[in-house]
Amino acid sequence: YKRITVKTLVDMKSKGEKISMLTAYDYTMAKIVDGAGIDVILVGDSASNVMAGHETTLPITLDQMIYHASSVVRAINRCLVVVDLPFGTYQSDPKEALRSAIRIMKESGGHAVKLEGGKEIKESIKRILNAGIPVMGHLGLTPQSIYKFGTYTVRAKEEEEAKQLKEDALMLEKAGCFAIVLEKIPAALAKEVAESVSIPVIGIGAGDGVDGQVLVLHDMLGMTHEFNPRFLRRYMNLFEEMTDAISQYASDVKSLDFPNDNEQY
Ligand code: KIV
Ligand code: NA
Repeated sequence: YKRITVKTLVDMKSKGEKISMLTAYDYTMAKIVDGAGIDVILVGDSASNVMAGHETTLPITLDQMIYHASSVVRAINRCLVVVDLPFGTYQSDPKEALRSAIRIMKESGGHAVKLEGGKEIKESIKRILNAGIPVMGHLGLTPQSIYKFGTYTVRAKEEEEAKQLKEDALMLEKAGCFAIVLEKIPAALAKEVAESVSIPVIGIGAGDGVDGQVLVLHDMLGMTHEFNPRFLRRYMNLFEEMTDAISQYASDVKSLDFPNDNEQY
């Protein structure tokens, strides 16, 4: 595929080709992710935690998301770029939701937006879609509602919540979303949802029965080390490697090893 579009992703699902997605929040990392052959970059509101050090995703603003997204967009040649609408920019009414989505599209150059929630935000999703902006849904453990849940444990283990999630997924497909993220729910439920809709379902902590996977880049590279959910596979231990490199530099400066004769003019 030359350039990934929302249509490419739906084609991938129908062919049974899995979709790879990672977060990125800046130019340099996005360039690496795009060049490595990832299909979708998510400019996640997890930037609130990863980039800014907040405890939750709630504080990040629309202006800050636009800054991250525009940096990512400047780096990409192939990836589809999806941008999270942050907390408080789409929940009060559909017009506000559309205004926020338009700002993201115009000011960052991203290709689609992602919103957390089901039937509560149906009208907002429809309004954004009517403006020609592709929407990705997000169900299950939706971190913008963490104070309602009270914990980051697995969602939809009980029948009632599972039933609502299945209804919400069908609603998102019917409304016209091009894909759905399912976060931290039982694998069997996620598989059932993925089989019930024709749009791709991308999982994080949602098992192997879905159409693609997403992880937070800094987590899978092992740059962060305090977050250890079962679903997180670490492909590197960058926390240790970076710490070693940086302390080596510090000691080279102290010992006058750096710079050497070849490293000066
Ligand atoms: O913000 C984020 O990183 C996300 C993914 C975990 C799906 O929404
Ligand atoms: Na998010």
